[in-house]
Amino acid sequence: MQETVLDLLLSHIEWDGNGRALDIGCGSGALTIQLAKKYCKAQVIGIDYWDKHWDYSQKQCEDNARAEGVIERVTFQQASASKLPFDDETFDLVVSNPTFHEVSDSKNKLDVVKEALRVVKKGGSFAFQDLFLIKQYYGTPEQLTEAVGAMGMQNVHFSDTKNSVRLPMTLRPPFMLGTMGLLSGTK
Ligand SMILES: C[S@@+](CC[C@H](N)C(=O)[O-])C[C@H]1O[C@@H](n2cnc3c(N)ncnc32)[C@H](O)[C@@H]1O
Repeated sequence: MQETVLDLLLSHIEWDGNGRALDIGCGSGALTIQLAKKYCKAQVIGIDYWDKHWDYSQKQCEDNARAEGVIERVTFQQASASKLPFDDETFDLVVSNPTFHEVSDSKNKLDVVKEALRVVKKGGSFAFQDLFLIKQYYGTPEQLTEAVGAMGMQNVHFSDTKNSVRLPMTLRPPFMLGTMGLLSGTK
């Protein structure tokens, strides 16, 4: 299931692969590495908090990137999605796969989205997957796309993940997939 959801996010990326990309909450580095493999000229950074709730680590990410032959163009660093250690408009592409809802040092999840968008360059792109259908976090999809538009983003598109991926019913956990959505656009 993880691979299908990841492929969906990759398919929503509008980018020519020139420049730098950021993966927020990279976990074991799967999406970071896929980006480096798909865009063979890109420099890709993966950040994660790597706390004890998940069995992921920076070393695991680096080992995975080495095994996949992309370690020269990939960097991993510990940081929180709530306060990214990058200047405004640093990245040509910013992505994130179900992480924002977990950011415990930010009560308002829209603030985490805003922080991610802060580091997108003018003319750059973003594609985020999260539990965007949880209204307490993000409001309705219409309110979410409007809020992101009000943050200065363009071509903002929302899609419901469970209606976009082909999975057998037995592999459709109601919590994760049932509330997951994909938000993409440009700055
Ligand atoms: C559901 S996992 C997703 C991992 C990866 N993106 C993937 O698709 O496999 C959520 C990730 O968010 C990370 N995370 C939680 N809080 C974070 C924070 N404040 N800043 C950065 N990453 C965080 C966790 O460590 C975990 O790796």
